[in-house]
Amino acid sequence: MFGAIYRLPEQIEEAVSKMEYSIAQFKASLVRTIVITGLGGSAVGGDMLRSYAADKCPVPIFVNRGYTLPSYVGKDTLVIAVSYSGNTEETLSAYADAKRRGAQVVAVTSGGILKKQAWADGYVVVTVPGGLQPRAAAGYLFIPQMLLLQKAGLLPDCGEEITETVRVLYEMRLRLAPQVKSEHNLAKRIASRLFGKIPLIHGATGLTETIAYRWKTQLNENAQTVAFAHSYPELNHNEIVGFDVPLELIEKIEIITLTSNHNHPRVQKRIEITMGEVLANTACGRYELPAQGASELAQMFSLLYVGDYVSAYLAVLYGLDPTPVDKIVQLKNRLA
Ligand code: F6R
Repeated sequence: MFGAIYRLPEQIEEAVSKMEYSIAQFKASLVRTIVITGLGGSAVGGDMLRSYAADKCPVPIFVNRGYTLPSYVGKDTLVIAVSYSGNTEETLSAYADAKRRGAQVVAVTSGGILKKQAWADGYVVVTVPGGLQPRAAAGYLFIPQMLLLQKAGLLPDCGEEITETVRVLYEMRLRLAPQVKSEHNLAKRIASRLFGKIPLIHGATGLTETIAYRWKTQLNENAQTVAFAHSYPELNHNEIVGFDVPLELIEKIEIITLTSNHNHPRVQKRIEITMGEVLANTACGRYELPAQGASELAQMFSLLYVGDYVSAYLAVLYGLDPTPVDKIVQLKNRLA
């Protein structure tokens, strides 16, 4: 897992330079809606694209995590079916649903049934390198989706943002990699804060909400701990009322707030008030983590990168191997 996390900037570079994207098969001018369908580590790229593209893409983007597609899916929908293994039953079922309804389909996968079927059906197939855990392939799974939309004229040119993202990640890993001692390694220090605690990751509607959820799922799968995520401004309308629970419960919670200077200014104000006054007399731990870089893309990936390392370091603190997810495999086998 550590090797795969370390190589995130290389994944992004490879996705730009080595993978092939042909959009010949789909008619971008007909696309009125985009639905990205996938589960777990294969859905995170869709979440990121939805957040990133919200103010850039002329058509709405939805992320679907189930067996069927919403009723609005039809010929004018671009469905991007993402499954790293190519064998996830929910995604295969949603893919079949897309085909049945005559949607324009793109498959993003390293192989499996999805690749075979999508080839046979004549759809666009983006093949990503295999051999990783799906959740460790975020660069391979996200960048192709972004470039496909760019190529289709549904997103503006994102070349400069990708270049900045890669540069920021290369710089960050000099400070986050395993050989860097805790005093200088932010991810190791955050992992120590989370040790023995229930992580509660806060983001904000827009860029960081998605990344807060990614932290939660990485903490689940890599560190094998329960974890929760919520986002501003919504959490100001419910969750803050819940911090008056008994001390022995509240002191188990460690809040990590992911911040970005792309947040709405009122959201920034809300974070200040919440972290200061609202939580002032509660015993939960709290820590604010600002994004690195200037562009939206670099900021998203910088926060994701810290979270990936934190979850792997927390696994080590718990004496666990961050790579295998036996429970997920067992459940899939049980359903087979
Ligand atoms: C495992 C992981 C899981 C899988 C999910 C779907 O590393 O991240 O969340 O992503 O079980 O499987 P795929 O990605 O193969 O469609």
